[in-house]
Amino acid sequence: MSILNTEVITWFFACKVEDVPANGGVCVKYNDEQIALFNFARRGEWYASQNLCPHRMQMALSRGMTGTQQGEPKVACPFHKKTFSLEDGRCLSDEHECSITVYPVRVEDDRVYIGINNGKEEAVVMA
Ligand code: FES
Repeated sequence: MSILNTEVITWFFACKVEDVPANGGVCVKYNDEQIALFNFARRGEWYASQNLCPHRMQMALSRGMTGTQQGEPKVACPFHKKTFSLEDGRCLSDEHECSITVYPVRVEDDRVYIGINNGKEEAVVMA
């Protein structure tokens, strides 16, 4: 017998593909949270992060500019241009700056879903 810890992801319908401009972002609400959703069309990829920029606590990242740094997708806050990785959320401008939360994104047909981690769930495996 062993115990597995697995993450529980809840996927919620965020919007349709056409609602997000190519190479731009929108703000999506999930309960009380604001999530920035990005259609990184240049790479054919989608990303999501918290909308709150931790630098000066501005709800701004959905209006940020997307780009890459050494091949890594990033977003630059429109206020003071701090940049954050869209892969793992760490601040790329200053290693001492706060990181941001990123979320997985799934696109099915023309519908975009964002995954929210609802914590760990223990599964007992009988062998
Ligand atoms: S508020 Fe985002 S970089 Fe300053």
